[in-house]
Amino acid sequence: MSHGHSDALQICEVGPRDGLQNETAILSVDEKVEFVQRLAACGLTEIEVGSFVRPEVIPQLADSGAVFKEIQRVPGVTYSALVPNLKGLDHALAAGVDKVAVFTSASEGFAESNIRSSIRASIDRFREVVVQAHQAGIKVRGYVSCVIECPYDGPTDPLDVRKVCDALREIGIDELDLGDTIGVATPDSISRLYEGLSECCTPSESVLHLHNTNGRALDCARRAFALGVRRFDASCGGLGGCPFAPGASGNLSTESLVEFLDEVDGPTGVDLPALTRVGASMRERLGRQPSSG
Ligand code: HMG
Ligand code: MG
Repeated sequence: MSHGHSDALQICEVGPRDGLQNETAILSVDEKVEFVQRLAACGLTEIEVGSFVRPEVIPQLADSGAVFKEIQRVPGVTYSALVPNLKGLDHALAAGVDKVAVFTSASEGFAESNIRSSIRASIDRFREVVVQAHQAGIKVRGYVSCVIECPYDGPTDPLDVRKVCDALREIGIDELDLGDTIGVATPDSISRLYEGLSECCTPSESVLHLHNTNGRALDCARRAFALGVRRFDASCGGLGGCPFAPGASGNLSTESLVEFLDEVDGPTGVDLPALTRVGASMRERLGRQPSSG
């Protein structure tokens, strides 16, 4: 996906997935479809629409298949979803997803809690997911959670992130996405992370997925941009969190990311006033305070 004058720039909007998966209010299929369609109308070109996981675990997204079926697709927009295993992939392919994301962790504690598996076993499970996704002609993103710190195991050694990135590359993942799951990164810890990864996953190759628990997500995005990162995940309205990452709140908001990128890299092509209206209406619908930005 390219925007503006920088060919490599990519914004993946994760609001419909990460933003809604941890909310107590469960939106209807129609409300989710409207959310996704409004995001595409703002000019966002990659949207993580939902997930195909155990419905008891994330009831908020249990109807992702129905959401995919109802969306009026905009040509050129990639509509993606999370899949933890082959069953999830089957459901995702039946729903007509354009891209899937598998997800594991740099820490054993979070892997065990989130996907009930060791890191090694998760990657073994993803191997066949990648093969079958590629046979179906779609790309696979590989999320590595807890790249800075784990809510169960404490601070993460960048070397542990590197091992997981290497293993995901080895099974043929198309895109590595580094998640600060609990939103505690600082600009300096982002620098240390990329130093530790060096050639295994360079800033320009990676996707960075920031949460905003400590209110520093935008500062971290700025540092990452200075280091060469050009692909970011962000969530409209700053919504987001994971039920298995206690205390984590909110993602980097797409509004603040777009504002920053427009300024530093030229127009992203995203309609910021329209996006701000979508974010405000979603926060209101979900009973959240207006976003601080
Ligand atoms: P498990 O219990 O070990 O699964 O869960 P299992 O393989 O033993 O199967 C148990 C039952 O679940 C079986 O049903 C399966 O068919 C069913 P039964 O025979 O008992 O009736 N099942 C499924 N049903 C529907 N769809 C599926 C599926 N898989 C199994 N895909 C599992 C393991 C991974 C499935 C489970 O733990 C799970 O679904 N976890 C998902 C958790 C999740 O979605 N977390 C949030 C997303 S990750 C995140 O937010 C982080 C991120 O934002 C990046 C960051 O911030 O760091 C991406
Ligand atoms: Mg997340």
